[in-house]
Amino acid sequence: MFNKHLIPNAQNLQEGKALNIKVAEYDLLITKYEGKLRAYQNLCPHQNKRLHWSSEDSLDDGGDYLKCHHHGALFSPKDGSCITGPCQGAALKKATIGIEKGNYYLLA
Ligand code: FES
Repeated sequence: MFNKHLIPNAQNLQEGKALNIKVAEYDLLITKYEGKLRAYQNLCPHQNKRLHWSSEDSLDDGGDYLKCHHHGALFSPKDGSCITGPCQGAALKKATIGIEKGNYYLLA
């Protein structure tokens, strides 16, 4: 996949917000849940489409769940599992995040 890639502005990401970033050919969603950054591939398990193009719209209105805007699937920001929608029981693929000298990185 990739070795180590800096997540820009990760330190400033707030709970209930998301960042969309592209690393090599992968689109990723970064979100913060219970104070911890979580990263998932931006690829809905229902029809393998991007959840959304915009960071601002990658979560539901309350900022509680990652949301696929194609058919409304909602995913837990804690573990990427689909809690409702056409792919209920499936999950977003996780990516690993590491911290080095205060910076956050995606790791292979
Ligand atoms: S493609 Fe995501 S819910 Fe259908």
